[in-house]
Amino acid sequence: MCGIVGYIGHREAYPVILKGLQRLEYRGYDSAGIALYDGNEIILSKTKGKVADLESKVSNLPSFSGNLGIGHTRWATHGVPNDENSHPHFSNSGDLVIIHNGIIENYSALKKELIKRGYTFSSDTDTEVLINLIEDIQKNSNLKLGKAVQVALNQVVGAYAIAVFDVKKPNEIVVARLGSPLAIGVGENEFFIASDASPFIEYTNNAVYLEDEEMAVVRLKKPIKIRKIKDDSLVSPYIQELKINLEQIEKGGYDHFMLKEIFEQPHAIKDTYRGRLLIDEGIIKMAGIEDNMGKFLNANRIIIVACGTSWHAGLVAEYIIEDLVRVPVEVEYASEFRYRNPVINDKDIVIAISQSGETADTLAAIKLAKEKGAFVFGVCNVVGSTISRETHAGAYTHAGPEIGVASTKAFTTQITVLTLIALRLAKAKGTMSSTDFRRHLVELETIPEKVEEVLKSDALSKEIASIYKDAKNFLYLGRGFNFPVALEGALKLKEISYIHAEGYPAAEMKHGPIALIDENMPIAVIATKYGHYEKVVSNIQEIKSRKGKIIAVVTKGDEQVRDLADHVIEVPETLELLSPLLTTIPLQLLSYHIAVMLGRNVDQPRNLAKSVTVE
Ligand code: M6R
Repeated sequence: MCGIVGYIGHREAYPVILKGLQRLEYRGYDSAGIALYDGNEIILSKTKGKVADLESKVSNLPSFSGNLGIGHTRWATHGVPNDENSHPHFSNSGDLVIIHNGIIENYSALKKELIKRGYTFSSDTDTEVLINLIEDIQKNSNLKLGKAVQVALNQVVGAYAIAVFDVKKPNEIVVARLGSPLAIGVGENEFFIASDASPFIEYTNNAVYLEDEEMAVVRLKKPIKIRKIKDDSLVSPYIQELKINLEQIEKGGYDHFMLKEIFEQPHAIKDTYRGRLLIDEGIIKMAGIEDNMGKFLNANRIIIVACGTSWHAGLVAEYIIEDLVRVPVEVEYASEFRYRNPVINDKDIVIAISQSGETADTLAAIKLAKEKGAFVFGVCNVVGSTISRETHAGAYTHAGPEIGVASTKAFTTQITVLTLIALRLAKAKGTMSSTDFRRHLVELETIPEKVEEVLKSDALSKEIASIYKDAKNFLYLGRGFNFPVALEGALKLKEISYIHAEGYPAAEMKHGPIALIDENMPIAVIATKYGHYEKVVSNIQEIKSRKGKIIAVVTKGDEQVRDLADHVIEVPETLELLSPLLTTIPLQLLSYHIAVMLGRNVDQPRNLAKSVTVE
């Protein structure tokens, strides 16, 4: 939540920071602001609303210029979204200015102390408390900014990624992180600060990612100095060369990132299995699994922790792993797991799934599992993210940047990685015959072209969307491997269209949700031709008798359901356990078109943020 950007160098800082905030707007978009050093003083513009609102506010200023600055796009935690609560925040003297992503949990006690010492506050934020604490320490102890920040951070409890500068020393920015991501882009005589690399990727491929409890002083014409906040020890900066490019983080002719990302899935799935699924050799190669095969083979059970869409991918994985590897799997919401004193030990393997690799609840669940002795394996998309570093081993999904708040390609690539893992373990464990194993490899390799085929149903999904866009409620039903797809379909619809939707295992319908069905209720049913087919057909009959409107996702050539349903969308035949990779696509498209028709902000739906780095 919240995106932060900073710049110090020879360029005009405003356009760099503004563009950076636009790229980070997926992290939060309640309000935005930028502070610059104009060569004389700190100038500030901030406003409730989107980065575009900030841009139009700045366009009315006579000038807004400087080579040093910090900017922020907010997802409100403390204090409603308004101009005063927007970042950056000044200290009382006006000398120091800060941007902050995270929560200072003990801000209230600190604020009381500062008020006693004469400080005043113009916002309700925890961030304004932090900048005044830094100022108080700086003044009373006559410390340099970096040192004062360090002393202050040792007094705060909570999470932060911050960037601070001082008008009296306008050649440096002090940054620090604990629990919220912070990257430093290293250019020639210039530095960029950001929550992720997207704001600076067009200027430099070299980045340093701060670890938790580290801070850095980024000073012009000097190497970056990184220290541990607690014990003051120096850390040598590790400069990574990033592989992402500008094209990947732009819309490339699509109206929305979400649509671009839906259409990127054939390519993304291929990137996920490239170099891992080796058809000619008839093997699956995954370093993170090979290196820890003993642990996987001896595990008593696998516990999957995740949130939201990643949790749905975990649920698909439960079905796949239990089916192929014959090891018990439990899937837990990370937010519940972290607080419920779970029974877990060194014979358990925890798989943490997260697109962003920054989700606070998932991170906390990982820490708990590690404390209890479990081996933790991460499945992340964002390279270098906190979760990818906090886990013992892992596998990246390689989906490329996902900017739309609604996860699409993250879901299908997570399922792809988890399927590869299941197949590899099944082979090693001998729970699958060689012929069957090979059959799965061959079929998995064809999935990208089958997804391509499903994407051709876009126009049909749009037509169906136009019929049901005004519905107040939707039901999504699926069974077996496709039950989690029903949950995911419902989540996609509610988060971007704000239409209430529920996902259910089809057979559960008669235990309650059937009461909701009447002629106004659209019901998306995944009715592909597998084991439960006949039973799902019976469920469809039950819906039809109650006049519900049926949108069925069926296997190509299915005539039985076509005769019953109001609309059918066909997907090519595949193995049952791979079918979620196909059946989820029409549901993504349906949600997308409904949301567009309702005039929703598809890529930045209200109240949501792409990576949820607070509890
Ligand atoms: O980055 P993560 O995969 O850890 O994020 C988890 C959820 O916040 C995320 O999947 C969320 O549910 C998406 N908005 C769903 O589209």
